[in-house]
Amino acid sequence: MKYNRVYNFSAGPAMMPEPVLEEIAAEVLNYKGSGMSVMEMSHRSKVFQQIRDEAEADLRKLMNIPDNYKVLFIQGGGTVEFAMVAMNLMKNGVACYVETGAWSKKAIAEAKKYGEVKIVASSKDKNFSYIPDCSDLDIPDNADYVYICENETINGTTYFNLPDTKGKPLVSDQSSMFLSRPCDVSKYGLIWAGVQKNVGPAGMAVVIIREDLIRDDLPQWVPTYMSYKTHADADSLYNTPNCWAIYCCGKVFKYLLAQGGLEAMDQRNREKAALLYDFLDESKFFTGAVRKEDRSLMNVPFVSPSKEQDAEVVAATKAAGFDNLKGHKSVGGLRASIYNAMPREGVEALVDFLRQYEAEHSK
Ligand SMILES: Cc1ncc(COP(=O)(O)O)c(C=O)c1O
Repeated sequence: MKYNRVYNFSAGPAMMPEPVLEEIAAEVLNYKGSGMSVMEMSHRSKVFQQIRDEAEADLRKLMNIPDNYKVLFIQGGGTVEFAMVAMNLMKNGVACYVETGAWSKKAIAEAKKYGEVKIVASSKDKNFSYIPDCSDLDIPDNADYVYICENETINGTTYFNLPDTKGKPLVSDQSSMFLSRPCDVSKYGLIWAGVQKNVGPAGMAVVIIREDLIRDDLPQWVPTYMSYKTHADADSLYNTPNCWAIYCCGKVFKYLLAQGGLEAMDQRNREKAALLYDFLDESKFFTGAVRKEDRSLMNVPFVSPSKEQDAEVVAATKAAGFDNLKGHKSVGGLRASIYNAMPREGVEALVDFLRQYEAEHSK
């Protein structure tokens, strides 16, 4: 690999496309003749305004975002959105949540601080190894929204069919699958994603919100910064934004467009994930942790015959140039995160390595 980089299977922050990193490196001291780095630039300057505007325009093109949705770049990453969603959208004080794993549980815990949370479906009974049936949920008339974590980064599940929300706005945490496949934005009330997994550097979330959900009647106690209206009215420039993250994400949006957009990403991601899942299905040593039809194309958790072996495999992969394969501390085992920027060769090389490991360690 060029630059001596490793295949980095981290769940986030995660790999970025190498050509994007090269472009950023070339511009880091003097951005397009401005005489300064984007890190040193006023967020009120014309140069930065263009970076911001292009980032939004390119994201709109990539996802085909309808005109009645606002695109917001908000600091603080994913965890801030757990609170913001509830603070902004709980008008009646009731919301429905689907509980599918670690990240939906965090969202639920946070939302409970601001109103009544109804868990309308859960996969807790089987250790969050599947996506529950969401075709006929019991949604009260006064529910403000239905919330899902569309790809559970730790548990490795993903939705291939969206819930029937019975007319209520669907809110989705897309952090670990954002831009990995085409998305019909019109089916959602709000999509949000922490960008450090499938797009750029940590510290920012992209929020795509239908305009009618932006409220100007929020209670007085909601902090100014936590109101979506604050960001929508100011085109995400109410205060100093995460300029660097906006710039890097903008580069990735352009790169994805040049690569053929989300259809092309989907095709590649399916192929990459199949390499790993086919191997796991064949293997007598490694076992995938998730029901087949709900398996994430981005985060692939698996186990070896024992905890001790898991640790040995992690050490062996690291020594061989595959980094960050240790499963999340809450679930153990192994996990390969194979976001957009993970090259196919990285997955092929990992599968070859695991196959060899199996041959040497199983009797
Ligand atoms: C699906 C999902 N939601 C939310 C978060 C929290 O994001 P952050 O660490 O940016 O607060 C993460 C991971 O970090 C995640 O994977």
